[in-house]
Amino acid sequence: MSKSIQVLSVVSECVPLLKTGGLADVAGALPGALMTKNVHMRVLMPAYRNQRWRLEGMKPVFAEDDLMGGPATVFAGQVGGIDFLLLDAPHLYDREGGPYSGPQGDWEDNPQRFAALSWIGARIAREGLNDGWLPQIMHCHDWQAGFAPAYLAWGGPHTCKSILTIHNIAFQGWAKAELIHALRLPAHEFHVHSLEYYDGLSSLKAGLVTADRITTVSPNYAIELMRAEYGMGLQGVLAERAEVVSGILNGVDTQVWSPEAEDKPYAFDNLRGKIENRQTLCAAFDLEVPGPLAIVVSRMTDQKGIDLLPEVLPEFIEAGGGVAILGAGDPVLEGAMRALELRYPDRVGVRVGYDEGLSHLMFSGGDAVLVPSRFEPCGLTQMYGLRYGTLPVVAGVGGLADSVINVNPASMIAGVATGFVFSPTTADALAGALRRLVRLWHDPEAWAQVQRNAMRHPVGWEASADAYSRLYADLLA
Ligand code: ADP
Ligand code: GLC
Repeated sequence: MSKSIQVLSVVSECVPLLKTGGLADVAGALPGALMTKNVHMRVLMPAYRNQRWRLEGMKPVFAEDDLMGGPATVFAGQVGGIDFLLLDAPHLYDREGGPYSGPQGDWEDNPQRFAALSWIGARIAREGLNDGWLPQIMHCHDWQAGFAPAYLAWGGPHTCKSILTIHNIAFQGWAKAELIHALRLPAHEFHVHSLEYYDGLSSLKAGLVTADRITTVSPNYAIELMRAEYGMGLQGVLAERAEVVSGILNGVDTQVWSPEAEDKPYAFDNLRGKIENRQTLCAAFDLEVPGPLAIVVSRMTDQKGIDLLPEVLPEFIEAGGGVAILGAGDPVLEGAMRALELRYPDRVGVRVGYDEGLSHLMFSGGDAVLVPSRFEPCGLTQMYGLRYGTLPVVAGVGGLADSVINVNPASMIAGVATGFVFSPTTADALAGALRRLVRLWHDPEAWAQVQRNAMRHPVGWEASADAYSRLYADLLA
């Protein structure tokens, strides 16, 4: 076997240590998925307060005396089979609250906090660790690691190549121009073709102009990003670098997300367990639903289109449907969901909060999962839906369009339909998709056929891991 490719992943959250969204799932799945492709990945992330206890059992492998206001040490150790490099810099990360915000909202020094992560990533990429490890590729994720390719590119000779993966272009890491020196950025790069972005700095843009390769988490989003509707100001920058941009669809962890591992296990050729899980789910949410039971598991933000539900649910409920909703985020959206629950107590159940265990019950007991996103770089919940025979009802954007095949006469005859795709992301189009869903529900044989198609659709990491390893090999060739 040829020598394995050494990759440093730079990321702000990673399962099993910390998760606020799909980014952490993906960062946590890649090392394992790539191991089988002859890639060794180590994951650099901050040692937030709730992880510092782990450092005791770990080995210091890199240090800097003054990392943007205080000392920093990188500790190496394994957690959950992943080779972590935890960046301990208490003045930046040892705080009460989340990774990006505290009780008062976003941390004011977020530019410094994640520039620091990126700085250390770039130094490791250039100098290696004191345990002798030198990465060949630095794979950075989102704005939090956006400065890393820039520090590497602007810091002198190096052999390491860089990749920046965009998980969500809505977050661009904007900072005031006056921080340029504090963030250790070269003043001569402050111009429109480089660092400058709306009179300030953008770590994401810095990464986009300097990374050797740019990827995003679905082929469709890679194309959408070049258009103004989805590029969110960075479409021009991406279009200029089009020849190094590609999209690789995420996978999901099929061990963790498996109907065969749920409370009442089931499989595509025996769905009895799913019926029992549905009863448990209805009991958990206090629901009585004669027709299809839809679920929503989502951050409550504008991106996710949750605000369309109040308009479309009355008709769906009239047709016998119901919905169980789990999510947290925007208090206005949370309130709107609670109002629906008050109005339809037997048909709408709402849990505000984050609850992984409950989400498993929902996917295993639901009939359909609603993902009416305005934009969606990849999306993971529609893939859980496929895997669980919980038919996805998705907006035809980003990775949603890449992973669900709409039910229509042609796809039914071909035996490939896996769910419902609607477009544009409006209440009308969503209502139309729900009508089609209700119609299919009344044809149990056809419904079962689509469920089987969905459950057999591959959603694991195999294909994506192949694509990433080819990208790495290509970059080193
Ligand atoms: P995003 O990263 O934009 O939020 P994804 O679909 O990529 O969207 O990933 C979201 C992940 O977070 C999924 O694993 C989903 O199941 C999970 N999730 C979101 N909200 C909740 C919640 N309230 N409780 C449990 N899991 C949640
Ligand atoms: C982002 C996107 C989501 C994607 C996830 C993982 O959070 O919003 O669509 O699935 O990253 O790549």
